[in-house]
Amino acid sequence: MFCKRIVLATMVAAGLTAPLGAQTTLKGAYHDFFRIGAALGPEYFTESDAAGATLVKAQFDSISPENALKWESVHPSPQGFHFGPADSYVEFGVKNHMFVIGHCLVWHSQTPRWVFEDEQGKPLGREELLRRMHDHILAVVGRYRGRVSGWDVVNEALDEDGTLRQSPWLRIIGEDYIAKAFEYAHEADPKAELYYNDYSLENEAKRKGGVELIRKLLAQGVPVTAVGLQGHYALEWPSIEAVDATITAFHALGVKVNITELDVDVLPRVTRTHTADVSSRAESGADSNPYTAGLPAAQQQSLAERYAALFRVFLKHRDAVTRVTLWGVTDRGSWLNNFPARGRTNYPLLFDREGKPKPAFDAVIGEARSR
Ligand code: G3I
Repeated sequence: MFCKRIVLATMVAAGLTAPLGAQTTLKGAYHDFFRIGAALGPEYFTESDAAGATLVKAQFDSISPENALKWESVHPSPQGFHFGPADSYVEFGVKNHMFVIGHCLVWHSQTPRWVFEDEQGKPLGREELLRRMHDHILAVVGRYRGRVSGWDVVNEALDEDGTLRQSPWLRIIGEDYIAKAFEYAHEADPKAELYYNDYSLENEAKRKGGVELIRKLLAQGVPVTAVGLQGHYALEWPSIEAVDATITAFHALGVKVNITELDVDVLPRVTRTHTADVSSRAESGADSNPYTAGLPAAQQQSLAERYAALFRVFLKHRDAVTRVTLWGVTDRGSWLNNFPARGRTNYPLLFDREGKPKPAFDAVIGEARSR
């Protein structure tokens, strides 16, 4: 088994594998291990990009909404909800028998300011904000009860040092806003899986804070099904050992561990540290955008090897991992073309700008086949 894996990985890295058949799919190759998902923009779930939608249906058995279910999208004003795009998203997933994810209910970002203010623009009190959170969660989760199978209930509540982020949720409600969000989601759909989702949990301080947070929630009986490691990675960060240790640490608490927003940034780092904090912004010069004419073979191979190593560790933990979701479908639509600097040409996913499988795709398939 071990030899087979080494031989296959070497062949893939050297580009020596036989061309994969048209029927080769991520969801097929990983069927016995875990679900493989993709985050979708509207062009996929409305099928305005017909070829893109076909690719999604062929390759993935789970979907996440890149933006369509965020608070600002479904509940832009106090006057009411706007469910059009979210309805098409859920409909697309249900029609195609996919495991449909809801993302996300409580987050500091992409939540309109009105949520935290009264009619005079003054900060809301705890009870009033809890009531708004309750009404929002009951309306959104309730609308899709039985069709959305799992929800990112609380997103990115931790800072890099492992303490709770000073968000308006924390400032106004207090620490128990997290437990309350899970209770409300459970009330709205008792059968849905409920997740705590965050980035950079692979870094030691944040992981420690995350483990403590989940341990406390579980001890209080809060219904947390899984922790989502977003998985916004780079070629060199985090180490495979850190990913391995992070999955182990959360699984030991008695929850599943999903990889929820996987991509691999191949461009030079333009911020001090690796981060998926959406408030980080940087300027880009020519030096930080070196592959506008295409990804050179050496980097293409590094990306394939990186994906192979990541999926090796996910497969190792297949008792803990129930889903690996990529944050996007093709390199063309990735948020990493505009983060943390705008207008760069990045190559973080498994399908190229035309929707063709990349060597990284072959490497990921190779890992499943070597089992
Ligand atoms: O909707 C407006 C549109 O009206 C306007 O014309 C256009 C012009 O820029 O902007 C559109 O909004 C953009 C929005 O995506 C919808 O496309 C925002 O500028 C853009 O900043 C926003 O980015 C999203 C980002 O979250 C915002 O926080 C990305 O698409 C989305 O991939 C990203 O996803 C997050 C996860 O939710 C949580 N984890 C990190 C991950 C990556 O940042």
